[in-house]
Amino acid sequence: MRATPKKLRVPALALMTELGERIVMLPAYDATMARLFDRAGIDLLLVGDSLGNVILGLQTTIPVGLEAIIHHTRAVTRGGTRALVVADMPFMTYQISVEQAMQNAARLFQEGGAAAVKLEGGRPVAKAVRKLTAAGLPVMGHVGLTPQHVHQLGGMRQQARNDQAAHELILDALALEDAGVFALVLEAIPDAVAEAVTARLKIPTIGIGAGPHCDGQVLVSYDVLGLFDGLVPPFVKQYAQLGELIRRAAEDYANEVRQGVFPQTATAKPPSVLAPASDGAFEELHRESVPIG
Ligand code: KIV
Repeated sequence: MRATPKKLRVPALALMTELGERIVMLPAYDATMARLFDRAGIDLLLVGDSLGNVILGLQTTIPVGLEAIIHHTRAVTRGGTRALVVADMPFMTYQISVEQAMQNAARLFQEGGAAAVKLEGGRPVAKAVRKLTAAGLPVMGHVGLTPQHVHQLGGMRQQARNDQAAHELILDALALEDAGVFALVLEAIPDAVAEAVTARLKIPTIGIGAGPHCDGQVLVSYDVLGLFDGLVPPFVKQYAQLGELIRRAAEDYANEVRQGVFPQTATAKPPSVLAPASDGAFEELHRESVPIG
């Protein structure tokens, strides 16, 4: 649990980096998970388009639409109190024109309740970033392995592996900083490249598979918690195996129902059950634990 229960705001991130305090981000997709992460002191809750993979069962993030991100952002903002909520701008919601990027980002703030948006890409999106930040909308950048470019990149593989590619990535990072991003995600690049980018930028970098030299870290939460059955990248550290825990709990429940062990026969019924149930009484019954047996 973090010391400061106060709502975290965008300018605080630069201060944290100045003080050498690492920033921690995790994707959250619903109110329950947001509440748990918020209580754990996670600084940034990202409503990532990774929800396409882990929530919707899609192979890539490309089919994830704006409505889905707005829907989940609304839920996440209801769950957290301290953490800053960042909403991903989905595929093709910011590349077609700066005007469209503005309109779509505005919906994430107005309808979703996001405090910032994240978008993928370097110099080609700098113009949109400049316009968004000039309008007062905080933007987080994302370079390196950008999953929305999976077809162009030829798969989910490490980027900036040679001098030329590393140089291009540094130019992208500098262009985004100049355009006004408040932080930059560096995904799946060599540690040394991430270290060089972090040293060149004034804004915080947040790494995922980019080594220990970034100003903060992010991993896909379902990977961290052992909830995702699919391929987990080699740089992920799993802190729990919740998938197996959930499977076992569901199996125990199913066995007990099938064997007639649960529920047990009630011998004494509380008066609220005997009285004709209004909607309110029904809700009471479900909220309070009713003694059985
Ligand atoms: O969509 C997502 O969850 C992300 C993080 C992995 C950075 O973009």
